[in-house]
Amino acid sequence: MARVTAVSLRERKSKGEKIAVLTAYDYPCAKLLDETGIDVVLVGDSVANAVMGRNDTLSVTVDEMLHHVAMVSAAVEKALVVADMPFLSYQVCPEDAVRNAGRLIAEGGAQAVKLEGPADKFGAAIEAILRAGIPVMGHIGLTPQSVHQLGGYKVQGRSPEAQMRLKKEAAGLEDAGCFAVVLECMPAALAAEISTALSIPTIGIGAGAACDGQVLVLHDMLGWGSTRFTKTFGDVRALMCQACGDYIEAVKSGAFPGKEHEYS
Ligand code: KIV
Repeated sequence: MARVTAVSLRERKSKGEKIAVLTAYDYPCAKLLDETGIDVVLVGDSVANAVMGRNDTLSVTVDEMLHHVAMVSAAVEKALVVADMPFLSYQVCPEDAVRNAGRLIAEGGAQAVKLEGPADKFGAAIEAILRAGIPVMGHIGLTPQSVHQLGGYKVQGRSPEAQMRLKKEAAGLEDAGCFAVVLECMPAALAAEISTALSIPTIGIGAGAACDGQVLVLHDMLGWGSTRFTKTFGDVRALMCQACGDYIEAVKSGAFPGKEHEYS
């Protein structure tokens, strides 16, 4: 099977094929997702909540992202690896943006980057990154890096004005050259309208079924965390608790290691 690329994702939209995206932050999880047939592995800055035990994504650095992006890139052979640009890695100036995006590609091994916010704020950064030959995924709606400005993690686009603004932002990101755009936490009808209007794929999270693809945080959908909108597809936490509990009991009772686990 040919590797998924930013270009082939656009073709999926025109063929009406849905796109499945999950986050991963380490080698074993990324390998498993790739083997299972995921289209895109997103190394999200949600690593802050899902793995690092932080309350928000604002403190994640480019070096921390690189640590995780490199592990994921080492594992993935078929899916497209997209690296999130963390807070302050693209907001200050286009020079920083292209340098940091370039590091996620050159040192991290990702094939595309994602950044949060509209083109009227970050168009110059997007243009600079694209000029360096790096595909960019946009992200609008609930953008966690702007949590303080948004007044919390709230559904976006409820008022007619906010809906108009989000439609303009989506069109602006397509015009700026993004190959796809994440729509996070907005009314399903609005996301449907945006998805119809754009020729690039929309990837929804809490944005209804009409998006061209869906993304979830891996740990959340496995029942191992609750950082974002999710549906739980499996209770991995329960399985791990069971296995770890069994191990502890076996060590304490002397049942493990048995003769079959000894070297002669
Ligand atoms: O950081 C992240 O994982 C994300 C997705 C949930 C869209 O931005």
